[in-house]
Amino acid sequence: MTQWRDRELPAPDAVALDHSAAVTRHVVASIEAAGGWLDFAEYLDHVLYAPGLGYYSAGATRFGAAGDFVTAPELGSAFAGCLARVVRQLQAEMPATTVLEFGAGSGVLAADLLTALADAPPGQYLIVEVSADLRERQRRTLAARVPHLLSRVQWLDRLPAVPVDGLVIANEVVDAIPFSCFRMAGGAPLALGVGVADGALAWAARPAGPALRDALVAAGVGAGADLPDGYTGEVRPRADAWVATLAGCLGQGLALLVDYGGAAREVYHPDRRDGTLLCHYRHRAHADPFLWPGLQDITAWVDFSRLAASAAAAGLSVAAYGTQAHFLLANGVLDAAAQGDPASRARWSREVGALLLPGGLGERFKVLALARHRPAWSRGLVMRDLRGAL
Ligand SMILES: C[S@@+](CC[C@H](N)C(=O)[O-])C[C@H]1O[C@@H](n2cnc3c(N)ncnc32)[C@H](O)[C@@H]1O
Repeated sequence: MTQWRDRELPAPDAVALDHSAAVTRHVVASIEAAGGWLDFAEYLDHVLYAPGLGYYSAGATRFGAAGDFVTAPELGSAFAGCLARVVRQLQAEMPATTVLEFGAGSGVLAADLLTALADAPPGQYLIVEVSADLRERQRRTLAARVPHLLSRVQWLDRLPAVPVDGLVIANEVVDAIPFSCFRMAGGAPLALGVGVADGALAWAARPAGPALRDALVAAGVGAGADLPDGYTGEVRPRADAWVATLAGCLGQGLALLVDYGGAAREVYHPDRRDGTLLCHYRHRAHADPFLWPGLQDITAWVDFSRLAASAAAAGLSVAAYGTQAHFLLANGVLDAAAQGDPASRARWSREVGALLLPGGLGERFKVLALARHRPAWSRGLVMRDLRGAL
């Protein structure tokens, strides 16, 4: 993978650098304890999720314009408005509709969704969040924005024993699930993990073990026969178990998985020789996962074909699949066009432009709708259904 260390990035302050040095020491100790090598997914466990250290668990996560990256809900309330419309459709069939959100980030989507549903709020808004730090942040956001509805919000320590009827939402959660990296060499995959070279964290390749080889077969990459030597890529076998968990939580209703990525043939296109790994620091994207461990987000594209297959194995069917733009357009994103004063209309145009335009989140992001029993109205969930591409 390309090292982009010389690309101009704003320098972290001394406190942040000290924190990153502590994260690096923790990773190096873990590499030594493991005999000199960590699978890349294990590296991500440490730098993203180690309690008190990882990017998502130590207060470093910065959402929104002043942060590292912007997600759809952070741009404004239009995304939540479209989800509110889906909730209303579910409520028409199931008055006791519950919302279950995985990975609620700053809590802004929950706040906007509850605000949009103020006339008929869901009886329960459940949140499953792996980061204790972000849970606290979500609680603060909701207490400030929708104090009168806070009693309906519940953070779950374990998944509901009884499946919920309603809407399950996971926006940019799958891309935050740790993934493994591989490189093709001599027609066979190597596992690209992490070692220490000259006192610094560095890529280290090993012959792929059975778990990685199985994951590649499941991803349709097989022995990589179609991929050229030197090709690097990522697989996320843990997403299979995550989808099975999600399936266990969903009774009647829908699950919407929104993320950037595509069908397997796009994710593993032979022309995409450097893979899809991307790091985000203060709105700069680069491809060096060893830069400032703990201070930056590290992600890779989501293979939606694999998610659909995992969902089918867990008893769910794909109710719809399409671009985020086509999901939002089918769910009323343009309805608010003429509302408000000129300043709020200008804000709205900027937000909706970023959500819909191909250069923004509109095409790179996809929406996968899963259901146990496909509701009849789910036919209109996206303007152009791309299930055939999965
Ligand atoms: C990129 S952020 C997206 C946050 C938010 N959904 C948004 O759109 O702004 C990823 C979120 O998923 C959470 N997360 C990662 N893995 C998770 C899992 N297995 N279950 C629940 N939350 C998870 C992270 O802690 C974080 O809140």
